[in-house]
Formats: sequence, C-alpha cells, structure tokens
Amino acid sequence: MNLSRNHLWAAIAGLGLAAGLATAAVSAGNPVEERQATMKGVAKSMKEGGALQAAFDAAKAKTTMDNVAAAAKKLKGLYPAGSDADPKSGADPKVWTQKADFEKRLAEMGALAANAGKAKDADAYKAAYKSLGETCKSCHDVYRLKKKPA
Ligand code: HEC
Repeated sequence: MNLSRNHLWAAIAGLGLAAGLATAAVSAGNPVEERQATMKGVAKSMKEGGALQAAFDAAKAKTTMDNVAAAAKKLKGLYPAGSDADPKSGADPKVWTQKADFEKRLAEMGALAANAGKAKDADAYKAAYKSLGETCKSCHDVYRLKKKPA
C-alpha cells in the first residue's frame, strides 16, 4: 500500500465531499424561503426609507431605494410553478393564475422605488415614497394569504 497514493485519494474524496456540500447548500435555498427573506429585506429598507422622509439624504435614499428596486427584480424569479404547494408559502394561488398582473405589480414596485431613489429633495422623496408604499398593501390585499401558514 502506497501511503502517498492513499493521501491523494483522501484529498480527492475530500474535494468531492466539499463540492457535494456546496451544491446541497445552494439547492437548500428554496424559493419560498428566499422570497420571504427578500420581502423581509424590502420591509427593512422601507423602514429605513421611512426615516429618510424627516431626515432627507439623497445618497442614502438612492442606496435604500435601489435595494428595493433590485429586490423587485429578484422577486420576479422566486415564484416558480408549483411553489404554491409548499406548506410554508404565504402566497395566494392567484399569484400563479394571474401571473401577468402579479408581475406587472412587481415591476411597478421596482419602478416606483427607482423613482424614489432619484428624488432630489425631501418633498419629492416623500411623495415618491408614499406611492411606493401603496404598492405593498394593494398587492398584499390580493396576492398574500391573510394568515401565513405556520
Ligand atoms: C407584487 C405583489 C407584492 C408587492 C408589490 C409587495 N409584496 Fe410583500 N408579499 C407578497 C406576497 C405574495 C407575499 C407572501 C410570500 C410568501 O409567503 O410566499 C409577501 C410577503 C411579504 C412579507 C412577509 C414575508 C415573510 O416573512 O413571510 C413582508 C414583510 C412583505 N411582503 C413586505 C412588503 C413590502 C414592505 C412591500 C412594499 C415595498 C411589499 N411587500 C410589496 C406580494 C407583494
């Protein structure tokens, strides 16, 4: 038995295992968890963005609102067919039966966020932030289950 050859095989087997684990970690991120985490991030940005109404800062508004706009783009890909069957999903089945309208609302949320990020003064920002905030509730009223499954 050649020791150095054994070592080589151990190293190769180790690499294979590491690669397998990395793949498992990626596929473990299921779309339901990802969209819920992304929405939570949006809520956090909206909270930060809300505070900027009284203490307007154009650079901070841009960063915060760009995050919301990026989230809107990302969310579009997080409602794959069949993911309504996941017991953790808090999305109404209408997301899938009215996909075009749902995606239009996401696009609108993204556009309004990008617009708020371009505001040059507090008044423009406040108005833009308010329009953006209205998209949350109006979409939730239709597409989010009233009671999130446990
Ligand atoms: C295009 C529709 C749509 C828009 C616009 C939208 N949401 Fe949502 N939101 C949903 C849906 C659908 C769910 C349920 C997702 C799930 O559980 O699978 C959700 C869930 C959430 C959740 C709960 C996440 C969790 O942990 O389960 C929060 C918080 C949230 N949204 C915040 C916001 C905020 C803040 C905005 C506005 C900036 C917003 N959403 C805009 C559709 C939308």
